[in-house]
Amino acid sequence: MADTAQLWRLDSQQTSLIVSVDTSGSPYLLWFGDRLAEGFAGDQLLAVTEPATAKAGLDRSMPLSLFPQASSGSTAAPALSGHRNSANFAAQLKVENHTITGNTLSILMRDQVSKLAVTLTFTLDDETSVLAVTTELHNEGAAFQLDWLASATLQMPDKLDEILSLSGRWGREYQIERQRLGFNRLQIENTTGRTSHEHFPGIVLGCEKFSEQQGQLLGMHLGWSGNHRIIAERLSSGSAYVQAGIALLPGELCLAENQSWKTPAAYFCCANGLNQMSQRFHQFARKAILPQWTRSPRPIHANSWEALYFEHDENTLFGLIDAAANIGAERFVLDDGWFKGRRDDTTALGDWTVDEDVYVNGLTPIVNKVREKGMQFGLWFEPEMVSPNSDLYRRHPEWSLHVAGLDTPLARHQLVLNLALIEVQDYLFECIHRLVDEHDIDYIKWDMNRNLVLPGDGTKACAAQQPDACYALMDRLIKHRPSLEIESCSSGGARADFGVLQRTGRVWVSDNIDPIDRLRIHKGFSYFFPPEIMGSHVGHDTAHLTGRKTNLHTRALVALQGQYGFELDARALSINDQAVLREYTDLYKSNRGWLADATHWRIPTRNRALFASGIVSADQSRAQWTIIAEQSLDETCPERLVLQGLSAERLYHVRVHQPGLQALQQFGARLPAWVFEDVTLPGEILMKIGLSLPVIPAQAGLLIECVA
Ligand code: GLA
Repeated sequence: MADTAQLWRLDSQQTSLIVSVDTSGSPYLLWFGDRLAEGFAGDQLLAVTEPATAKAGLDRSMPLSLFPQASSGSTAAPALSGHRNSANFAAQLKVENHTITGNTLSILMRDQVSKLAVTLTFTLDDETSVLAVTTELHNEGAAFQLDWLASATLQMPDKLDEILSLSGRWGREYQIERQRLGFNRLQIENTTGRTSHEHFPGIVLGCEKFSEQQGQLLGMHLGWSGNHRIIAERLSSGSAYVQAGIALLPGELCLAENQSWKTPAAYFCCANGLNQMSQRFHQFARKAILPQWTRSPRPIHANSWEALYFEHDENTLFGLIDAAANIGAERFVLDDGWFKGRRDDTTALGDWTVDEDVYVNGLTPIVNKVREKGMQFGLWFEPEMVSPNSDLYRRHPEWSLHVAGLDTPLARHQLVLNLALIEVQDYLFECIHRLVDEHDIDYIKWDMNRNLVLPGDGTKACAAQQPDACYALMDRLIKHRPSLEIESCSSGGARADFGVLQRTGRVWVSDNIDPIDRLRIHKGFSYFFPPEIMGSHVGHDTAHLTGRKTNLHTRALVALQGQYGFELDARALSINDQAVLREYTDLYKSNRGWLADATHWRIPTRNRALFASGIVSADQSRAQWTIIAEQSLDETCPERLVLQGLSAERLYHVRVHQPGLQALQQFGARLPAWVFEDVTLPGEILMKIGLSLPVIPAQAGLLIECVA
């Protein structure tokens, strides 16, 4: 019998994706997982994977669709929802044709009755196995009111029933939550209008007790910087799926006849263990998402915010610039407080001209000073915002997002501009590029400090336009000045995703610089994003957000986990602390050359207060690990540190490279010998037997280097 099975297949180096079509014309995922050999009969595969049919259900059960529709009898969340004046509330889109071009599969579905068509596109990255999925809706009839269009719906492998998600708040981003997937639908809904502190647009679905090192899992991340919805559900049939897309507000999106709308991509990665998933997402981001400049060694920032807040004046800044250069800063960032009338956070957003009362000679003397010190110059903007107390608002109150007759609650005393208005785009482009050109600005810290509330254009909701309009403004600036580096900041880490990261290559992951709180923040961030884009600063000894006092070594060790920098009043550092920081600065400089394509590892520890992670160079010749105790450990002698990702056969020279090592000595009677005398051992021993750790007191740690 001829093999007539309709199987569409994509392969990457490690995975295969197989899609088929059921008898009702609905496409479904037959396999997304480890790469399969060729040479099996498709019809035999279909025979062994056909779902059973239960009594008291549909007469013929169908596999879970890649585009679930209620019209098929499926109870899965529909991938599409909308109507035309209440008509066409349901559609029956069926596969019409498909194409495979390179590693991209496109499936066209159409329904003549509802006059709707959809294109599902799957692109499997050959090297990293990350799958990008988008959905495009084509309206072939009269105006269609769209309420929901999922970027993707993917059936999960049978064994997966545990969920990891990331939640948080301002100052405490990327906190890990784990739960079991039962039969009740889990829905994560972000309504803040930005990527959000609260609900990261990503999820990991894994088998029971999946861990850093083990367990089949599927990771999903939506590349979008606005409202989103993620659904995970196990149906009564037993199959489970994950779905994600932009969460639209009522009436927000109406497609005119012949108009199409394409979703942002949802990115999927299947892996064995969380480390493997992260490594694949990191590599993918590096080759397919992040701006090219992130591939070069990242400079050391010194940021003025926590050093000065709004206390700007020329002499103070000169002093800070000198002090920052002295501890090794390579880029000085003038944060909030430089523009007209901005003496605190209640005014002036939108008035993007230099405050001549404070900067009597403009920014030129500051910029010159920064350059004299051999540093680059960066400037803070919050382009999407306007203060009611600003010239801009007085001129154009109608430019802010609002609903006529309703009061928009202020947040940080500010309102949000309707970025989709072309006149707003032009105004902001003019303001920013004028300054960028005048001062040859190397870098912008692009902030976004409030949620969208009542995001209307006066009448209609328009939140879904904001992220695209923001991307467009960034793209325009980058096109104008290709060397411009932009950082994504949003009250700390409320805007990090594969959408904004296509034009920004650094993230200020939290306003919280307390190194102990940062351990969890960095860990959560690392699930989806690589370390070289994580802005990570040494702060003051007493952290401004938490009041916790920590020692300089711990602060520096944690800062070294990402793009190292400073956010402190360097003028007030003692001679000794300056010297200590210079040593860490040198350490960062000597390793950053390989950070941009290093493999990141989170090392699982039995004691949950111990945070161990590190990076191994792509050629496995170097590695750097930090181990830090979040609080006092239950045991006197912590467990051995078992390293990861080294080459088993190669010999590694292992040493504790850390200016602060002496500080550890007083907490134990004796430190293990290797801590003082470098050892040389094969990778296999380090990855199987491991290294005895010294007694580590609360909030201290150590840094270990391996060189092949
Ligand atoms: C936000 C940012 C901070 C700082 C301030 C300035 O809170 O996250 O880093 O730039 O704004 O107002």
